[in-house]
Amino acid sequence: MTRWRILVIHGPNLNLLGIRERDVYGTIPLGEINKRLSQEAARLAVHLDVFQSNHEGRIIDEIHSALGKYHGIVINPGAYTHYSIAIRDAVAAVRIPTVEVHLSNISAREEFRHHSVIAPVCIGQIAGFGPDSYLLGLAGIVKYLEASTCPKNA
Ligand code: DQA
Repeated sequence: MTRWRILVIHGPNLNLLGIRERDVYGTIPLGEINKRLSQEAARLAVHLDVFQSNHEGRIIDEIHSALGKYHGIVINPGAYTHYSIAIRDAVAAVRIPTVEVHLSNISAREEFRHHSVIAPVCIGQIAGFGPDSYLLGLAGIVKYLEASTCPKNA
């Protein structure tokens, strides 16, 4: 049985899911997304931890502390997606395989959301499937790890 350790990071304003811009992000609160992630992690037989912060530096600290603890990261960087070179550098620095996810299809929204500065240092990006983007991201990172030759104990 695999025991991959996966960290999910939710960026700024995602704590307000269910309240904020429901026409864009839907009505499902973050707690429910985390519950679905836990169920999916159990189904995939992986260990999952979840972190949310509205602060760039705290997200960077969390990525740094993932070193040696997690085999993969699923991150929704929120608006930091579009301009945080610092979060991009953190992901590149730790070299933990990372999947970027978004609830909305950022390519179909305002032009300033089309570009991600973080995606180029990730193994892939999933956007537009609402809460399922997280579940697809989790399944994707686990498939990637299974296929890789990475040792299971970082
Ligand atoms: C988001 C898309 C971002 O552009 C936005 O700033 C968010 C949420 C998404 O999940 O669709 O906060 O990352």
